Amino acid sequence: MEEIKVDLGERSYKILVDNGNLKDIGKVLKDYHLGKKATIITNPLVGNLYQDMVKDSLVKEGFEVAIARVPDGEEYKSLEWASKLYDELLEHKRDRYSFILALGGGVIGDLAGFVASTYMRGIPFVQVPTSLLAQVDASIGGKVAVNHPLGKNLVGSFYQPKLVYTDLAVLKTLARRELIAALAEVIKYGIIKDREFFGYLEKNIDEVKTLRQDVLKKIVAICTRIKSELVSLDEREEKGIRSIINYGHTIGHALEVLTKYKIYRHGEAVSIGMVAAAKIAQRMEILNKEGERRQVELLERAGLPTKVKDVDPLGIIKALSRDKKVQEGRIRFILATEIGKVETRDDVPPEIIKEVLQEITENSER
Ligand SMILES: NC(=O)c1ccc[n+]([C@@H]2O[C@H](COP(=O)([O-])OP(=O)(O)OC[C@H]3O[C@@H](n4cnc5c(N)ncnc54)[C@H](O)[C@@H]3O)[C@@H](O)[C@H]2O)c1
Ligand SMILES: [Zn+2]
Repeated sequence: MEEIKVDLGERSYKILVDNGNLKDIGKVLKDYHLGKKATIITNPLVGNLYQDMVKDSLVKEGFEVAIARVPDGEEYKSLEWASKLYDELLEHKRDRYSFILALGGGVIGDLAGFVASTYMRGIPFVQVPTSLLAQVDASIGGKVAVNHPLGKNLVGSFYQPKLVYTDLAVLKTLARRELIAALAEVIKYGIIKDREFFGYLEKNIDEVKTLRQDVLKKIVAICTRIKSELVSLDEREEKGIRSIINYGHTIGHALEVLTKYKIYRHGEAVSIGMVAAAKIAQRMEILNKEGERRQVELLERAGLPTKVKDVDPLGIIKALSRDKKVQEGRIRFILATEIGKVETRDDVPPEIIKEVLQEITENSER
């Protein structure tokens, strides 16, 4: 089992990366002083696969366990469902000596974390991320939130879990599209922070896609370590350190908004956003052609989209200027200067953004 620490003073916690031992999670949790009353928050898809295993293991170690289920889908990451969860916690007489266990992907993790952060002014919570995206990204760093009709993640806070327990074996049941989409974030870590890791992915991307266990273990551990480091240095994303994680997200997010979150999985939009960022950097002559080519090629080989279909590039620009990353009218981009290094720029010439968006849009009139 790998152990990675998120270093945040008294809010520090461990991320355990295990393989096939979810059935023994009760034993692990016993050492964490979480209280005896557990509430597992999950959804029907993940719940049917894993909730009994987790529950049995907790019961065996003397925990009292309740299960609360939320329907599967981003639209249920809402205040309305948070409120229903408060009702259930109260019904089960959960008090400040109880804890929440989030069993699911990023949607469950964000929602359960939000509920944990507010119920009785905050009760402990444990993340058990079951999607690749949640394992390498969403479960780490304490951003918890629900969506608002006017936008994603608009209501939330920073609230760190007491432990993140990752079991790689659960990825076997994850839908292929979800797995591939998360690879965008995995590749992102290489581009922003770790040239050697990027090279490793170039060599092993096919093995990642077939879930070869040793490769999977390595990539989840490395991504986890990179995110943990960034969070430890800049928990609240105030120092421009953690924010490099938003590489590819400027245009990616605009694309998601423009297509109303219906066409692209988040990682797919980020993949296109990273292609755009690479091309912008290349045109600004801060990245060489080879650096651009390697990014695009690896994303393609991972099975991710690198072009936009049937979307008006000007629409993307409009959506961009409404983004929260815009400060005083300037759009902020994270750009790679080489594989493994990025910088934040707000001086990208608008013509370059336009040219690049036209270049990556299929069926665009040129
Ligand atoms: N807090 C953060 O720092 C952070 C970072 C990135 C993303 N997020 C949030 O994460 C969410 C996206 O997370 P996601 O991509 O995991 O989506 P998700 O939670 O919707 O999971 C994707 C799908 O996979 C299913 N699933 C999960 N684990 C499975 C398993 N082991 N076997 C079979 N099916 C499984 C889910 O039920 C769902 O249908 C978004 O709401 C996003 O805002 C948060
Ligand atoms: Zn992302």
